[in-house]
Parts: sequence; structure tokens; C-alpha cells
Amino acid sequence: MTPRSTVTSEPDSSVSLTAGAGTIQPGPDVSTSNWLYDEQFPGPELRVQEGDVLSVELTNDLEAETTIHWHGVPVPNPVDGVPGVTQEPIAPGETFEYRFRAEPAGTYFYHSHVGLQLDRGLLGPLIVEERDPHVEYDREYVVVLDDYLPDEPQLPSDGGRGGGGMGGGMGGGGMMGDVRPPYDGLLINGRLPEDPQTFGVTEGERIRFRFVNAGSATVFGVRIAGHEMTVTHADGRPVDPVDVDSFAFGAGERYDVVVEATNPGRWFVQADALDGNEPPARAVVEYEGTDGTNTPQVPSSPGDQLQYSDLQAISSLDGVSGSPDRTFDLTLSRGGGQSYTWTIDGQTYPDADPLRIRPGEHVRIRMTNQSPVVHPMHLHGHFFQVGNAVKDTVMVPGHRGQVTLDFHADNPGRWLFHCHNLYHLDAGMARIVKYVE
Ligand code: C2O
Ligand code: CU
Repeated sequence: MTPRSTVTSEPDSSVSLTAGAGTIQPGPDVSTSNWLYDEQFPGPELRVQEGDVLSVELTNDLEAETTIHWHGVPVPNPVDGVPGVTQEPIAPGETFEYRFRAEPAGTYFYHSHVGLQLDRGLLGPLIVEERDPHVEYDREYVVVLDDYLPDEPQLPSDGGRGGGGMGGGMGGGGMMGDVRPPYDGLLINGRLPEDPQTFGVTEGERIRFRFVNAGSATVFGVRIAGHEMTVTHADGRPVDPVDVDSFAFGAGERYDVVVEATNPGRWFVQADALDGNEPPARAVVEYEGTDGTNTPQVPSSPGDQLQYSDLQAISSLDGVSGSPDRTFDLTLSRGGGQSYTWTIDGQTYPDADPLRIRPGEHVRIRMTNQSPVVHPMHLHGHFFQVGNAVKDTVMVPGHRGQVTLDFHADNPGRWLFHCHNLYHLDAGMARIVKYVE
């Protein structure tokens, strides 16, 4: 693999996006003002062919600076969208062009990388279609999961150890050691469970669902009532198909599954917050010819749940076999002071040392989580190997959970490595991975 250089060739696909204030209606009687791309929520689906050059002109109609990050795509460093690291933030009224080759194929998403803007609605799916999928399917649906915050996001003001904090207390349900933002519900494709989207299917079809966890602070557990799911891609990378009843994924992770439509009726696609107590996000799988007034069936038990160890990448990563050239041992933990902070090895980004690597190295990062909550850790600009899977985001479980990832330093630049819980990121749980000569 050669380093990705800045793409100057003519785009195969050109898109303009405007970030601005807008109104969303996630439920029948609910409407709130948010910050959106093109006044849509989620933002417009961008869909290109593998290898196409994509140009996105972003116009900033917000009253704040912004950027876009192409989550998971190993883009050239200057278009990675991290303010103050890979670009100057885009000022209100300005336009910035992101141009890159869309590869490899996969299910991705794009989002603002400024402050807490992701939790205001600045997100959308990016689908890079493969020329030659390793699984067959007849139709597909993109399923964007999100946690719904009606108000302006804020870090807990009192250190987040109790009471007040993010506007009123603990979200309960396993969030000890942290405060859950005051979410008003959980969304599938921008809709609350009171107003679920319907996915039409025909008996006998194979349906590909592309699940994106675009939430800011939620681990979702996903099931489809009445159906087994065959997981075919993890973070966009093809895996040997594995049959499960459910999977859990953290903020920033994606799974593609194929479902065989062999069980006519109306069935809920359901996503529970494993770290919150909001009612589950829902959509409906509806077979053609079914009476649309029947109440959809809910999933029963979680059944067989996907484990990372079930994932076997179809093509493993180059450059990460044998022993690493460089290893980082990093502890993930809660900061000790009065303010709300999260740390990597005791340091709070941006007051944190870069992780220095050299081009061509096989780099290993070993993480130990000394806090009670999950941290979905995401590396920009690279895929990594974790077990036999190839991913770009991986959950490190709480209570001394350990995860080791390996990557090949094949994309020079300065790349963020961070927790994709947006509040943890904003409170310091990040480092720069910096190429040095
Ligand atoms: Cu979705 Cu820094 O990333
Ligand atoms: Cu975290």
C-alpha cells in the first residue's frame, strides 16, 4: 500500500452540502431545532462506487466553525476534517472542498468533528459500493442509529459525578462512573419509535441492512424479530458470514448483515441502549401483502450475540504480521480532578503527548480500561487488525477490559486516535498519532 496523496483528478461524483440550522420532527408531535446537513436528518446519503473520486463542497451556514470527518475512510491527511490538526476549521459563511478517492468499499458515515456538533445532528451515511460483493442480496437498507438530544449538548458542569451535570441526573442502567446526556429517545433514521420507518420486503428476498451507530454516547444492542442476521461486514470490511440473533456496537462502529425474508409478517428491527434506559429505537420490516395495521412483533431474547472473536476478515491487513516495530501500552480512565475529564495514560487531550510512529512500521496499541464504562476507540486514517477482524473502531469493555490492535503505518500525517463517545472525546480521551521521519 502506498500513502494516499492529495487527490487532484477530476471528481467522478460532486456533492454540495450546507451545514445550517434546521428543524427535525422525529415523532408525530415532536419538533426541535438542530444543526443539519442540507436540512435533513440524518444528512443526505452519499453513495459512490469504490475507487471513485468524490468531491464534497461544504458550505458553513452555522454561527460556529465546523468541519467534516469521513469516519473510517483512510483519506489523505489534509481532508480528514480534524480542526486544528488536519485543517483550519471552516468559518461561518465559508466553503471548503473535501476531495478523496472513495476506497475501499464499505459502510461509512460522515460527521462534524468540531466540539459536540455531532450530537446536534451533523451526521449522515456514506456508502461506497463494492464492484463485486462477496454476498448476494436483492435489496438494501441503510439503518442509522442515534441518540436523540433535543437541546444543545454540554459537558457535565459539576464533574459529572452526580446530581445536576448534564441537565438533570443519571440516566441509570449501567452508566455508573459516568453521566448520560439527557437523551429524549433513540432514533432509527431520525425517527423515534412512535413513528417508525417501514422497510418493505418480499418473501424470498435477501435483504442487506447497513447498520451505522452514529450515536454520541450509546452502545446499541440490535435484533430483528423473527429473523436471524448474517453478519457480512464489520466497519465496512468484508468478513466470513456469521449467523447471529443480535449484535452490540459502540459509537462509530458499523455492521452489515444479510437477512433472508422467509417469515412473512410485520417485525420490529429493535435497538436497545445498553447503557441507557430510553425506550428502544425501532423500525418495521413489513412483508409485501401483509396487513399494515397488524402490530409488529417484538424480538424475544437476545439469543446468540456476535462476539469480536466471531469475526474473520476476508482479507487480513498487510504489514501487521509477526512482532510489532513499536508498541504503546495505554490506560483508559476517568480523570481525577473536579472537572469532567477522561484520560489516556493520565493525559487529557490536547495537553497530551503525541504517539510517534515512523512510516512503514507495524504498530501495536494495547489498551486497558480502568473505568467502569465502555470506550469505543477509533483510529483515523487506518484500519487495524483486532483478533481476526479488520476494523476502525473497537469497544474496550469496562472494568479492566483489554483490547490489542495492530496497524500498518501506511498513511503519513497526524491522525486522531480517540474514544468515540463524544463526551469522552471532548473531555480529553484522545491522542494524536504522529508520523515522524
Ligand atoms: Cu467518527 Cu474522530 O471520528
Ligand atoms: Cu470513552
